[in-house]
Amino acid sequence: MERRLYSVVGFVLLATVVYFHWASAGRGGWLGLRIPIPWLQPKMGFIRRNGTHFVETDGTPVYFNGWNSYWLMTSESEATVSVMLKRGRAMGMNVCRTWAFSDGGSNALQIYPGRFNERVFQALDFVIYEARRNNIRLILCLVNNLNAFGGKAQYVRWAQAAGVNVTLADSFFSHPNVKQYYKDYVKNIMTRKNSYSGVTYKDEPAIFAWELINEPRCLSNSCAPFLQAWIAEMASYIKTLDQKHLITIGLEGFYGHERTKKLGVNPGEWAGQLGSDFIQNSFDKNIDFASVHAYPDSWIPKADHNEKIKYLSNWVDSHLSDGEYILKKPVLFSEIGSWSEARKNGSNHREVMLKVVYDKVFESASRGQAGAGALVWQLMVEGTQRYEDEFSFVAGQHPDAYKLILQQSCRLRNLLRRKGKVSKEWPCSNV
Ligand SMILES: *[C@@H]1O[C@H](CO)[C@@H](O)[C@H](O)[C@H]1NC(C)=O
Ligand SMILES: *[C@@H]1O[C@H](CO)[C@@H](O)[C@H](O)[C@H]1NC(C)=O
Ligand SMILES: *[C@@H]1O[C@H](CO)[C@@H](O)[C@H](O)[C@H]1NC(C)=O
Repeated sequence: MERRLYSVVGFVLLATVVYFHWASAGRGGWLGLRIPIPWLQPKMGFIRRNGTHFVETDGTPVYFNGWNSYWLMTSESEATVSVMLKRGRAMGMNVCRTWAFSDGGSNALQIYPGRFNERVFQALDFVIYEARRNNIRLILCLVNNLNAFGGKAQYVRWAQAAGVNVTLADSFFSHPNVKQYYKDYVKNIMTRKNSYSGVTYKDEPAIFAWELINEPRCLSNSCAPFLQAWIAEMASYIKTLDQKHLITIGLEGFYGHERTKKLGVNPGEWAGQLGSDFIQNSFDKNIDFASVHAYPDSWIPKADHNEKIKYLSNWVDSHLSDGEYILKKPVLFSEIGSWSEARKNGSNHREVMLKVVYDKVFESASRGQAGAGALVWQLMVEGTQRYEDEFSFVAGQHPDAYKLILQQSCRLRNLLRRKGKVSKEWPCSNV
């Protein structure tokens, strides 16, 4: 009896301390109260894969309509993150892809190999915590191929600074020391305990998947075997740390120069010279689903609108077919981007391009095939101008795009409803 009393008193004391800790940190939330206790978080299951489908914990298929906002972790305020997630939800979307990396420099997540800025880590904690509260799942990308936010070039510079004999950026994929930096980083991420929820990242169902690297490219095809080996090694390493989450690569989807029958699908000869091959890379047994990007405006900038549509249709068909018949894995179009400028021209270029992908994903899903979803690049909210690029937009300022995104979310949901699983709930009740 006495022991029980002590434990009750202990719990109350702990709760009080936790309350004041978080309230004094002034982190918003309900009366500033945030208790990092895993079982107090909203209920959510892990997404798994069964053949060419994503499935809920109970085995029922699930489709994804989503968006990119790479800047969530680095945005100035938690309010901005909350607003973006809520707006995504209001468009019926269920997945957001964002950066879980920022390497080198004072505001970076990873300041030096294996050294982290706790303030930035807490910002990432918040993104994950808030996603779960909004019933949004996250694709978290682990490093950039490009230089923005450090990228693979920063890893190579770190190795150089440590006296390692590395020169080319391609050594990111091959040098043992550089690979070890990446593994150390990944381990720190997987084992991070979220300061808002108390949930370790590897146990967090709001994380839909880990993405190895954003848009991996080599300087030349001679590094192709190293890229392939890197993908296999890193995917296998993640599976040793975390068996609950799905893994994808982050490919743009180009076919390698030896895949002659498919080269016509690439946007140009250059795309076959980057050391990646969509089929071979995605085939690795620890890669759970294929990721594809689509940027006709920047890949074939000189083509006119109709040529771009034709190109995009073929690109999407080809990858859906690969997923269904060769890879036998779900295919997620994880970045679909169109020039914002084109909208000002009086056309609705973006909506037409987006609809091509949406229609094909929907048709594939309707047939029970590998099309699993698409994510628009990229959505902003007011006040995030510094993260703008030539493809970004605030959905609310583009009613046609807004409506299209909402419709796609709802028809993918209704697909499940026809199978008797989902009721016609908000925000699809009026669509
Ligand atoms: C995978 O799907 C098939 C066909 O829909 C089903 O028969 C099987 O039980 C599923 N497997 C799991 C592990 O859910
Ligand atoms: C560094 O590596 C290059 C190419 O691998 C090699 O030619 C060179 O001798 C190496 N330098 C040193 C100091 O080991
Ligand atoms: C705007 O429209 C004109 C005429 O159709 C076309 O030539 C031009 O490429 C368009 N600009 C953009 C940015 O789409």
